[in-house]
Amino acid sequence: MSESPRETHEQALREIEAAETPEHLETVRRRYVGRKGEVTASLRAVSGLDPAERPAAGRAWNEVRKEIEGSLDARRAALEAKAAGQAKRPAVDISLPGRRPACGVPHVLRRTIDRLVEIFTRMGFWVADGPEVESERYNFEALNIPVDHPTRDEHDSFYLGPGVLLRTQMSPVQIHVMEKTPPPVRVISPGRCYRRDSFDASHSPFFFQMEGFHVAENVTLGDLKGTLREFVLRFFGRGVEMRFRGSFFPFTEPSLELDISCTVCGGAGCSVCKQTGWVEVLGCGMVHPQVLRNVGYDPESVSGYAFGMGPDRITMLRHRIPDIRYLYENDVRFLHQFRGAP
Ligand code: DAH
Repeated sequence: MSESPRETHEQALREIEAAETPEHLETVRRRYVGRKGEVTASLRAVSGLDPAERPAAGRAWNEVRKEIEGSLDARRAALEAKAAGQAKRPAVDISLPGRRPACGVPHVLRRTIDRLVEIFTRMGFWVADGPEVESERYNFEALNIPVDHPTRDEHDSFYLGPGVLLRTQMSPVQIHVMEKTPPPVRVISPGRCYRRDSFDASHSPFFFQMEGFHVAENVTLGDLKGTLREFVLRFFGRGVEMRFRGSFFPFTEPSLELDISCTVCGGAGCSVCKQTGWVEVLGCGMVHPQVLRNVGYDPESVSGYAFGMGPDRITMLRHRIPDIRYLYENDVRFLHQFRGAP
């Protein structure tokens, strides 16, 4: 027996703490306090000692045995508690935060159109629809667009057959509505149009337009201006200036174009407004008397205005989107930026 009671005690405690399983702990127990254990042997050896040494040695080894047994009990209890805890833990950890499901958002163009519909329906407009495949009569003739007008050219429009094409504008809805409905009419019509344009930063072979028109007794240019003033205020916000410029469209007389002060530079001049401080927003005018006659309205008793705007364009202006293709590529990294946009 080489080791002192204190050394044996310390060594035993280290092994007890290191035991990770009940089996391992049992081995440690046997090594020290089992029948053939070190402490047991030392106790036995006490009887062979000098009589004067026996009481102290006996006491020392007995104490060590008690302490070791106490530590064994404590460690056994701890290992059992740990095993019980592991058995009870549920297979699913309900404390983990949940995984967020991928969630779609309305397309930024859809948001613009919804907003336009909201603004105009509150002013008394109702919403009409029309076919995307049109006859030349609706797309051109009834709108007073002459045969030699460039938009009638095969190179500019998608013809599906003789006299049948994808609509190049939303103005044909004027004809559909007025043919079926006696005045007064006050209608907006957002929809998709098609032209043979290349797909680049500012052109797309498909795009949106929203037509609006109001025909009734005594509708004047003043009504048009007031209505568009309200639209600009509500859509672009206060502080945006507007101006009208004379223009030409076959289906309006007089014809105008509406510009607003550039939303990007505030009117100082930048690449978006080509250094002019103004950007074009829509075309408009008073409905041409010939168009009224074409649908059976009497231009002597009713008058009206019409306007046509591009939701793509005003979406780009409002959100400073530099390239129209972003609107049609459906890249969610782009679209998700407008999650909260009104
Ligand atoms: N349809 C026209 C275009 O595609 C836009 C337009 C201009 C519509 C003037 C109108 C208007 O109703 O009065 O260019």
